[in-house]
Amino acid sequence: MRQLIVGNWKMHGLGPALAELLTLRHALYARPPLADVLVCPPATLIARAVAAASNAFSIGGQDCHAEPSGAFTGDISAEMLKDAGAGAVIVGHSERRHDHGESDAMVAAKARAAWRARLMPVICIGETEAERAGGEALDVVARQIAGSVPEEAVASATVLAYEPVWAIGTGRTPTTAEIAQMHAHIRALLTARLGGEAGGVRILYGGSVKPGNAGEILALPDVDGALVGGASLKASDFLAIIEAAAARS
Ligand code: 13P
Repeated sequence: MRQLIVGNWKMHGLGPALAELLTLRHALYARPPLADVLVCPPATLIARAVAAASNAFSIGGQDCHAEPSGAFTGDISAEMLKDAGAGAVIVGHSERRHDHGESDAMVAAKARAAWRARLMPVICIGETEAERAGGEALDVVARQIAGSVPEEAVASATVLAYEPVWAIGTGRTPTTAEIAQMHAHIRALLTARLGGEAGGVRILYGGSVKPGNAGEILALPDVDGALVGGASLKASDFLAIIEAAAARS
């Protein structure tokens, strides 16, 4: 399975930041990557980012509303992201779950909205520091998968991202053994839930992925790519992570 490297720009980026995407495009044209590449800029940049990417990589949104349209001031539907040229959308990021009170059920509804609009959802899960300290990480992730991954998920249109909340933006990561254990656990849960489809669902690791640690993380079994925050803002760092992605047979 080809690995997938996703950049989540979060609430960073004005027009001039598109220069990073042009750098990325030129580098990927010159040296076609062994991984699929997706960049999720702020919604205001999506249409311009699609033009800048020029099919060298994909562009996605960072969130969507579950409904296709309606009286939801400030929200953006999956259909609108699609209309702007997006091919994917992150749903259930911990910053949405915690800062905007999104429940597992809301995340599942957003994943279904993504499919309705023909977008690929990147469904995020992950435990807090207190949950890990309390020995609950595996259970929390099991609960999140049960609640936020719809049972009709198919492998070709579904990506999972495991992001331990305490590793996001902190420079701290779980050990490689802990990442491998969690990804194997997620694969087993997906198999119980989705049957044969589960083997083809890409499971990304996210949380302080940098050029310096990407190689060892991306080499782990059941790690099918990375969801990258801060290090995706600079093309040179993001490219180094893309380079670290290994092709899987
Ligand atoms: P950092 O890579 O900055 O830790 O962010 C991870 C993340 O939240 C990506 O969605």
